[in-house]
Amino acid sequence: MNKKVIAAIGAVIIIAVVGILVYMFTGNNNSESTNNNNNGSNNQVQNNNNNVSSDDTTNDGNILILYFSISGNTEAVANFIHDEVGGDIVKLETQETYPDDYNDLLDVAQEEQSENARPELSTTIDNLDDYDTIFLGYPIWWGDMPMAIYSFLDNYDLSGKTIAPFVTSGGSGLSGTLSNIKNEEPNANVVEGLSIYDSDARSSRNEVVDWLNGLGY
Ligand SMILES: Cc1cc2nc3c(=O)[nH]c(=O)nc-3n(C[C@H](O)[C@H](O)[C@H](O)COP(=O)(O)O)c2cc1C
Repeated sequence: MNKKVIAAIGAVIIIAVVGILVYMFTGNNNSESTNNNNNGSNNQVQNNNNNVSSDDTTNDGNILILYFSISGNTEAVANFIHDEVGGDIVKLETQETYPDDYNDLLDVAQEEQSENARPELSTTIDNLDDYDTIFLGYPIWWGDMPMAIYSFLDNYDLSGKTIAPFVTSGGSGLSGTLSNIKNEEPNANVVEGLSIYDSDARSSRNEVVDWLNGLGY
């Protein structure tokens, strides 16, 4: 490896570590739950442990907005995206629910990551073929995607589809997760991601719109 490559890798690691530290020291967990539904639009498919089948799709059926969210930040961003682009919106849920206590949640998430776990999903998507574009949303957990997102990427083949990742975090940003998605789905087209600070998530509509414009929406 030449010096430039080593420097680039070092820079990525430093950014991730600084993000985690900022997050840990500010203790910004936004743990309140959200009631932020999408302004009464009929397009929303609320997936509460249900399968999503083609019956649930709308006229904008080639777009799926799939997100994982515990305390509602990523969900707020997902709803803004849905307001703008339509399509179907689905919350990715696991068989086992995560702890309400924040410190317990930190521990469980860290353990899952260290075990490279694949938590069982209760959400299934029967009509994946209907979708060309998947907006994939998640919070950054310990500098990476929650392992439930890896479960989803393991369970489904997204070859030929466009994946537009969006994340919320306490400061880590996308944290290298675009590469991780590309590794999991080498035949998908992973486009520019959106990163939102957790404390800004619920007022991020303009940022979301700018990002979508950049993607051609
Ligand atoms: C288990 C856990 C680990 C986290 N790890 C990080 C991290 O490594 N870097 C960071 O910036 N924020 C981290 N956060 C903060 C979340 O990414 C952030 O609050 C996010 O907006 C939560 O999304 P949600 O409300 O959709 O669940 C972590 C939060 C939790 C619960």
